[in-house]
Amino acid sequence: MAHEQEKEAAARASLRFVKNGQIVGLGTGSTAACFIQLLGELVKKGLQVRAIPSSDRSAEQAAGLGIPLTTLNEFPEIDVTVDGADEFDSQMRLIKGGGGALLREKIVASATKQYVIIADASKRVPVLGKFPLPVEVIKFAQPVVERKIRTLGAQVDVRRDSAGKPYLTDENNYILDCRFGQISDPASLARELSDMPGVVEHGLFIGMANLVLLAQGNEIVELRGQ
Ligand code: 5RP
Repeated sequence: MAHEQEKEAAARASLRFVKNGQIVGLGTGSTAACFIQLLGELVKKGLQVRAIPSSDRSAEQAAGLGIPLTTLNEFPEIDVTVDGADEFDSQMRLIKGGGGALLREKIVASATKQYVIIADASKRVPVLGKFPLPVEVIKFAQPVVERKIRTLGAQVDVRRDSAGKPYLTDENNYILDCRFGQISDPASLARELSDMPGVVEHGLFIGMANLVLLAQGNEIVELRGQ
């Protein structure tokens, strides 16, 4: 089954975790976009939810579908969030940020009671690191952080937009895409990155996912965490 169909299948499987009256966190990326589309269809049929988007892009999509939006000011606790991932391993540790929304995604995830990841079969890896790890940095710190991450052994590229300019996140920061190769100890790397002044957030999501819905051909595999 093509990855696009698997994304849609995983998104469809996640709908049963969304209940009437809930506050729903919206992820970002092509898989999350499938979920937002399907959620919009349920809202048109009468499902009552309020959503908190993790990016301007997802906010725009949701608003266009008539999904009522709210904010963390109104609801600092979210019932359920459905999001995609760039990679996950057997311990449900994730790499996120391929779509550039890792900072708000992590904040939304941290405010969520049930954090559900939807993924096609290509996202499951034995060891994290096939996908370059995105690290969001404030502009001023970019050269300093870039140099420090290189000394940890990674190849580092400042992410660029289609015009060749540094890509700007919704929070107006840069992203460094860091190729570490296989990340044998994600928790310790996460700590090292978080400790670097100027790093706003990194794309390692550890101990956050409660459930991964993995579409594998015609099957949906459920992986459960804490
Ligand atoms: C955005 C993300 C996305 O969830 C991740 O990049 C996966 O995207 P896609 O569903 O398009 O493969 O972390 O910041």
